[in-house]
Amino acid sequence: MENALLLCIFVSHWHFLNALFTVEVPQPQYTVEYGSNVTMECRFQVNGELKLQDLSVIWEKKEEHTKEVYKLHKGKENFNNQHSDYGGRVNLLKDKLQLGQSMLQITSVKPTDAGTYLCLIGYEGADYKTITLQVKAPYRNITKRTVTVQGTPGHNEWELTCQSQGYPKAEVIWHNGEHQDFSAKANTSYETGTDQLYSVTSTLKTNTSINETFHCIFWNKEFKENTSAILIIPDCPVDSQRINSRRYFATAGAVLVLFGSSLLFMLWVKKARKDQDRETCTNNAAVKVIKLSTDEEEGDCRESSPENEELENVRIEGT
Ligand SMILES: *[C@@H]1O[C@H](CO)[C@@H](O)[C@H](O)[C@H]1NC(C)=O
Ligand SMILES: *[C@@H]1O[C@H](CO)[C@@H](O)[C@H](O)[C@H]1NC(C)=O
Ligand SMILES: *[C@@H]1O[C@H](CO)[C@@H](O)[C@H](O)[C@H]1NC(C)=O
Ligand SMILES: *[C@@H]1O[C@H](CO)[C@@H](O)[C@H](O)[C@H]1NC(C)=O
Ligand SMILES: *[C@@H]1O[C@H](CO)[C@@H](O)[C@H](O)[C@H]1NC(C)=O
Ligand SMILES: *[C@@H]1O[C@H](CO)[C@@H](O)[C@H](O)[C@H]1NC(C)=O
Repeated sequence: MENALLLCIFVSHWHFLNALFTVEVPQPQYTVEYGSNVTMECRFQVNGELKLQDLSVIWEKKEEHTKEVYKLHKGKENFNNQHSDYGGRVNLLKDKLQLGQSMLQITSVKPTDAGTYLCLIGYEGADYKTITLQVKAPYRNITKRTVTVQGTPGHNEWELTCQSQGYPKAEVIWHNGEHQDFSAKANTSYETGTDQLYSVTSTLKTNTSINETFHCIFWNKEFKENTSAILIIPDCPVDSQRINSRRYFATAGAVLVLFGSSLLFMLWVKKARKDQDRETCTNNAAVKVIKLSTDEEEGDCRESSPENEELENVRIEGT
């Protein structure tokens, strides 16, 4: 009975103290981009000059096992129990304390920093408030790739790939120029990349024709953000073929110098080519360069049949 009374007195006394001393948060939620800095703030009352030796400030991250982020105990910083996640990345702005502001700066924010933080303050009483930190990494840099799987010129099976890194997980939506949804045909994989970011790769295989456009949209549902890239089916696959055109030209030139005078050779090639049952666009790209070198006109690889290529080669040989 006596114990109960004591407890009752203690609790009411504690409440009384608590009511006098409160911690406030001017901003209960922060959203920051991966890699940037954030300064979270909570406020408490300081009447007159701050007595630093009476002040304790604790910042914790609420998780299954609470992580200590920062501790100032009776005016002295103590990093002994600081969680390794925050080592060297946090700083309490001490000059703000006398204004009653507990401002915690976290530098180069990572996805794992996202969550709920407690700001506890003991001064002329004790109180705490919570602050939520959200971290986002937009899927800004989209790497795209367009390659033929197999060629029937003009109407190919293409493999379109979009790849990007971000946080949190994004869905990848595909549609063509007519806004038809191709998402169900795409294959999207998720890997954990650098700094817990997601590396998202989405591949769409489709039968399509030249100049058809496709959009890959990285849809970050949580932040209601979309980033997208446009892929245009080229008349020849893989841009590197064009970049390397000089090399192709040089190689093709050497080949022609060596063998060009031999019509017999060309006939042999013709026969060999006829034996090939699959004409790939890659072959056509090489032929296109040869063609360009002679008549300077924009070649169109998709229309060049093995027969046409022979004609082109013979023409080069004649010049
Ligand atoms: C983040 O804070 C650190 C340390 O104070 C500073 O060197 C850096 O420039 C800041 N970065 C940004 C993006 O403000
Ligand atoms: C975009 O991503 C590619 C490949 O992942 C990388 O090489 C490039 O530097 C990135 N660009 C930017 C601006 O981040
Ligand atoms: C998606 O890719 C995975 C791994 O490469 C593969 O096992 C799976 O069959 C693919 N799914 C579709 C629908 O293509
Ligand atoms: C593309 O067309 C070919 C031939 O009709 C077919 O075998 C292939 O499965 C098609 N590919 C796709 C992704 O629809
Ligand atoms: C594809 O687009 C290019 C450039 O806009 C144009 O010159 C070409 O004729 C188009 N080809 C087809 C098959 O539509
Ligand atoms: C993002 O794209 C998806 C699919 O196209 C769409 O449903 C959603 O409304 C878009 N969100 C925003 C914010 O644009």
